[in-house]
Amino acid sequence: MASVPSLAATVHQRLADALSAALPEAGAADPLLRRSDRADFQANGMLALAKKLKGNPRELAAKVVESLPAGDVIADIEVSGPGFLNITVSDEAIVKTLAARAADARLGVPHAENPGTTVVDYAQPNVAKEMHVGHLRSAVIGDAVVRILEFAGEKVVRRHHIGDWGTQFGMLIQYLIEHPHELDHKADPAQDQAASGEEAMSNLNRLYKAARALFDSDEEFKERSRRRVVDLQAGDEETLALWRKFVDESKLYFYSVFDKLDMEIHDPDVVGESGYNDMLAETCRLLEESGVAVRSEGALCVFFDDVKGPDGKPVPLIVQKSDGGFGYAATDLSAIRDRVRNLQADSLVYVVDARQSLHFKMVFETARRIGWLDEKTHAYQLAFGTVLGKDGKPFKTREGETVRLVDLLDEAIDRATAVVREKSENLGLTEEEIAERGAQVGIGAVKYADLSTSAARDYKFDLDQMVSLNGDTSVYLQYAYARIQSILRRAEAGQKPAAHPELPLAPAERALGLHLDQFAETLKEVAAGYEPHKLAAYLYQLASHYTTFYDKCPVLKAEGGPAQVENRLFLCDLTARTLHQGMNLLGIRTPERL
Ligand code: ARG
Repeated sequence: MASVPSLAATVHQRLADALSAALPEAGAADPLLRRSDRADFQANGMLALAKKLKGNPRELAAKVVESLPAGDVIADIEVSGPGFLNITVSDEAIVKTLAARAADARLGVPHAENPGTTVVDYAQPNVAKEMHVGHLRSAVIGDAVVRILEFAGEKVVRRHHIGDWGTQFGMLIQYLIEHPHELDHKADPAQDQAASGEEAMSNLNRLYKAARALFDSDEEFKERSRRRVVDLQAGDEETLALWRKFVDESKLYFYSVFDKLDMEIHDPDVVGESGYNDMLAETCRLLEESGVAVRSEGALCVFFDDVKGPDGKPVPLIVQKSDGGFGYAATDLSAIRDRVRNLQADSLVYVVDARQSLHFKMVFETARRIGWLDEKTHAYQLAFGTVLGKDGKPFKTREGETVRLVDLLDEAIDRATAVVREKSENLGLTEEEIAERGAQVGIGAVKYADLSTSAARDYKFDLDQMVSLNGDTSVYLQYAYARIQSILRRAEAGQKPAAHPELPLAPAERALGLHLDQFAETLKEVAAGYEPHKLAAYLYQLASHYTTFYDKCPVLKAEGGPAQVENRLFLCDLTARTLHQGMNLLGIRTPERL
């Protein structure tokens, strides 16, 4: 179905028409409409316009009011203050607009008019290494951005740029050759994904530590490891097969964590650093031939006027080291070529820690200089801040080690399960149901805490706060949803959600309705700026409006009789669907009963 214009859009249009009718000399001036506390909306556009036309803003505003057609949308409009317009819409218009929304499976959210292709680079852990909270952020934010863009109609290509290449593999492979059973499993991946994932990681961890210790203490092993790097780079089959073993074992682990995170990661989208190996030499050649990169002390470098070290000397982007080895930058530059040329991307989004911002700034600038990025293709680092402990310092264990992501997730699930168990005593849930909901609430809590502050900011990982039933948490939203479902279930046979535009609305109903009206516009803004936190804020406000409505307006026992029951059920139902859709875009489940 065609997209349903929001009430705000309709009012905006009426005002714009009135403006150009009243003041043809104004051209297409914007009435600058926003939501307001004093009335439903306020238009401030007359002030700037009066300045431009050298008129009196209050007189101008009055002229606009006169030119408004009498209609059913604007119930009341008055000039106030220096020349604002305060606008109240009719109850009828609110319900009619929402009814049109409700009739659409997409809740009136239009498809983007000119969808493009966006590559989202997210969820990129490193082979043979433990996943930590930084990887959580990239995965959670990236997954939400992917869902939001896809819902908006954008074509999205996912890329998990895992760290699967580098000289450390020489040492790991050599050690495995000398200790061939180090990666053997007891658990069967087909039987128990979580257990075999954990086992894979603990094997890799043990092997990593042992190999590192030997490498640091045994010169001969060090030498054998170095030769192994050469074999790996030369594509020696036996060496490559062992390297693949490390990658596959790590993936077993990654997938078990993503599974716990209730996130779908597809194998073809896992294109790690090694996926660009074949392009590296050419990338360097093109950069050097074009003069964008120059040789400096044997290394291939790109220089920037505004990037200098503490000593004032320029810090270059090193594309190729003086020993011929390629670094992180060569891989990322090759990935840009691949994404723009082969994947036909118009936009590249990198969900990566803010601590890599300088790297991406230099990489993007380099790509622009050589023309791999141009005005038509834009690259953007969706940089995220650091996860802090309760003490406000970067999150560490008591022993000062990085916290394992799985441990955090398990703890969140445990806490949430306790909350669910306590709250659901009279729901008669089975143990299995409690466990399932505990996972949905716990994982939802972790995701929501991450998504509800703007990505760029640091946030404190505080489980007590995250699973709290009051406040800006996912559990609060999940309860609002479950409460609505419970009302809908309790409705009797004749009590169906149905819009009744002829009924007057209570203040809490109007506030809820006007907020529901903003869903599509909020999503548009969220998608355009890659800002899931604005969706989280919208949903939290929605749940808050619903809570007020629920306190003030009896639904199944509405005082106004059967039509009002239906109208309130209609508001409940649309709120639930909006919550469900919105939470789904954040990657968070909405259990039917809690
Ligand atoms: N693997 C990296 C890390 O753990 C993140 C990769 C980011 N993506 C990229 N294209 N460089 O920090």
